[in-house]
Amino acid sequence: MKKITFILILLSVLKVSAQNAIPIPDTLSGTVFNLTMHPDSVQFLPGVKTFTNAFNQYPYLGPTLILQKGDMVTMNVTNTLSDTTTVHWHGVHVPAMADGGPHTVVLSGDTWSPMFEVKNNASTFWYHPHTHMKTGQQAMRGAAGFIIVRDSAEAALPLPRKYGVDDFPIVVQTQQLDSNNQILWRGMNDSLILVNGTQNPMLEIPAQLVRFRLLNGSQERNFNFGFFANQYFYVIGNDGGLLHAPVYVNRIRLSPGERAEILLDVNNMQGQQLYLMSYASELPSGVQGGIPMPGMDSTMYSPINGIDFNILQLNVIAQTVDAITTVPSTLVSYTPWTEAEAVETRNILITAQNMMSMDGPFYFNGQLFDMNRIDYRIPLDNVEIWSITNQTMVAHPFHLHDMEFFVLDRDGVSPSPEESGYKDVVMLAPMETVRFITKFEDYADSTMSYMYHCHILMHEDDGMMGQFVVMPLTSGTHEIKLDDQISVYPNPVSDNLTIQTSTNEQVNVVISDALGKIVFTSVMNPVGNQIKLNTENWSAGMYSVSLKTTGSFVTKAVVKN
Ligand code: C2O
Ligand code: CU
Ligand code: CU
Repeated sequence: MKKITFILILLSVLKVSAQNAIPIPDTLSGTVFNLTMHPDSVQFLPGVKTFTNAFNQYPYLGPTLILQKGDMVTMNVTNTLSDTTTVHWHGVHVPAMADGGPHTVVLSGDTWSPMFEVKNNASTFWYHPHTHMKTGQQAMRGAAGFIIVRDSAEAALPLPRKYGVDDFPIVVQTQQLDSNNQILWRGMNDSLILVNGTQNPMLEIPAQLVRFRLLNGSQERNFNFGFFANQYFYVIGNDGGLLHAPVYVNRIRLSPGERAEILLDVNNMQGQQLYLMSYASELPSGVQGGIPMPGMDSTMYSPINGIDFNILQLNVIAQTVDAITTVPSTLVSYTPWTEAEAVETRNILITAQNMMSMDGPFYFNGQLFDMNRIDYRIPLDNVEIWSITNQTMVAHPFHLHDMEFFVLDRDGVSPSPEESGYKDVVMLAPMETVRFITKFEDYADSTMSYMYHCHILMHEDDGMMGQFVVMPLTSGTHEIKLDDQISVYPNPVSDNLTIQTSTNEQVNVVISDALGKIVFTSVMNPVGNQIKLNTENWSAGMYSVSLKTTGSFVTKAVVKN
């Protein structure tokens, strides 16, 4: 009897710790991408299933989008949730109308079809909802996926790039489930570790040089990534592109929203097992996931805070044919903007109502997000320094939409080499000041805004966000992609607006008001090269009229009298 009980216990222990091979999401490529966000459920824990949100065939997360730099792509985003949503292409440089921020809502049952040219360099990006006050809830239910941009500079390098063979997308998330197994997206007691949506995760990697595209897709937790026994690896890229050269390290800290591409050399390790870990014992208090604040109530933090823990088991299998086995000594070249080029410095102070507060709300320059307030109007092509000062006791990952930036310094000290490339999220430790530099290029739209915010999703949803517009250099109209073939008149308009086209080709018309709310959207067929819209009932004000045909995308500002 005793023996049987013992065996049963042993079996149940084995069952709990059994490793699950992580899924490598299927890829979508080409120039038209169809994404359907839908409600689903997953059996994360025994008992009740966990309700999730996901894309396409997946019950959690979504496919990987492979974009080619220079392509003009169309995203067809269909929302089959019962709620309104948006989808944002995190890190991808797109027109504000196509950015998927909180203004470009996709109503339940609708499809939103932004179009943009892929201008980013090869790197790892991601997509996720950005719904006003619901980003955290919708994203943490699993509505997210990878975007991989490829370009010729990266393609010319001898790097592992066989997706799912020697090049792996790895999204790490921690979740807290309530007593009913449902996702508590604001939970700080997040100890369910998921890699690509899988618990007790395992990945087989070939005995050669392997590439991991690491994404911290958590709500608030920072990971201090490293490998078992402090094995060294190479950081080859940050958020928005490859570095000048691989950087040899044994840690890479990623806060929510940040990415890093790394190379791990397991050339002679066939048959061995190692772990991707988080060395969270090295994260200080105030950095979420680090050592708990002295005196903090233990129900307020997870048991994995401040300890070193395994994230992903890696089983080394046989080398593949044509394996890449050596690390290139150089990668790509790029020239960061210099402080001398900057024409503007913007100072943002992060504060909390009560300085000791752990859970906010947190403010940018004393204000919470307001959908109707534009915080900055930035002239197109401005090179700017943004200086962000964290005057709170907790860390905040600051994220900028539209542009990648370069970190100038942290408290006056140059960033470490592995943080010196293109970034779109930068973590600010408690009481730290970070300065970065960027240039607001290519896209201007005087009415549609871009966001900047803390990427701790509950902070964002509680109002730690602001918005800016990039102003066209000439007032009036601005063409995103210059197209003399389409004109819109009269402007200002009173009762009838005419869209004059050069062909009778279909035009996808999307009109939004000054707050960015879409007021009209339709695919229209010109008659005699003209589309006529009745504008009698429009209320007075500024509108953004965006017109999309095959190969062109034009946005015009129109004033209704
Ligand atoms: Cu990843 Cu504004 O978000
Ligand atoms: Cu973003
Ligand atoms: Cu924050």
